[in-house]
Amino acid sequence: MEIIKTIDHMQQASDGIRMEGESLALVPTMGYLHEGHLTLMRAAKDHCDRLVVSLFVNPTQFGPNEDFEAYPRDTQGDLKKAEDVRADIVFMPSAKEMYPQGAQTSVVVKDLPQHLCGLSRSGHFDGVTTVVAKLFHIVKPHAAVFGQKDYQQLAVISRMVMDLDMDIRIIGVPTVREADGLAMSSRNSYLNPEERMSALSLKKSLDLAQRLFHEGEKNAQMVKDFVRSYILEHPHTKIDYISLCDPVTLEDANTLADGTLMALAVRVGKTRLIDNGRLKK
Ligand code: PAF
Repeated sequence: MEIIKTIDHMQQASDGIRMEGESLALVPTMGYLHEGHLTLMRAAKDHCDRLVVSLFVNPTQFGPNEDFEAYPRDTQGDLKKAEDVRADIVFMPSAKEMYPQGAQTSVVVKDLPQHLCGLSRSGHFDGVTTVVAKLFHIVKPHAAVFGQKDYQQLAVISRMVMDLDMDIRIIGVPTVREADGLAMSSRNSYLNPEERMSALSLKKSLDLAQRLFHEGEKNAQMVKDFVRSYILEHPHTKIDYISLCDPVTLEDANTLADGTLMALAVRVGKTRLIDNGRLKK
């Protein structure tokens, strides 16, 4: 496995792979890899000949009061895991390499970031789309793989790729969960044992909404109220949002239908967790 730290070197490596007629997949990550990331990498390898994993904690997608400094990092562990999955290249640039003179240009998707996480994380998705567009120009992948746990991120990136005619296939992979249902996330490492128990309320509330829908409930507000009370029964929880919405536009749904997206963000102690699921008849 090759470790590449500069943009020039990565672009040359990608050109070489493409000239050999091989296809290239990118799994962009911020490191602190867990089984969820490794599942994305395995999926990427099913679609392409070569796999590039990027490790970059992107400062521009964190707000001033967010956890950029504290974000967990474990470069040696990440390299070992990427090697075990047989990644071909790990691209791990410094912030100076990615933003040598700051940045005056950004890629902004207009409407999708105005919902869900975008409401409390102003500028977050602009940071994501800009860094992902840069990674696409640097790695030149044929396909890129993202987790459905970050549903809105996947939607925003898919929209950017469509709007800007980027010749890259975006592949979404279902959320990977711990045995008890908690969606895997690097931020789970912040949770103490009591918070870890409370964090289960996210997945359980998705299951609860699904059960209510299955039993015939169609009123979105009723389901939201029910789920809100359920989550708040758990210690240390503070709800950022609970949304029942259209899975394409992310606009609020008043009436539930097959395929409606339920997405939620909950602070458990100081840790902000997200999860989502689609209602099924
Ligand atoms: O999902 C993430 O880890 C990040 O938002 C991403 C896509 C790597 C961009 O920094």
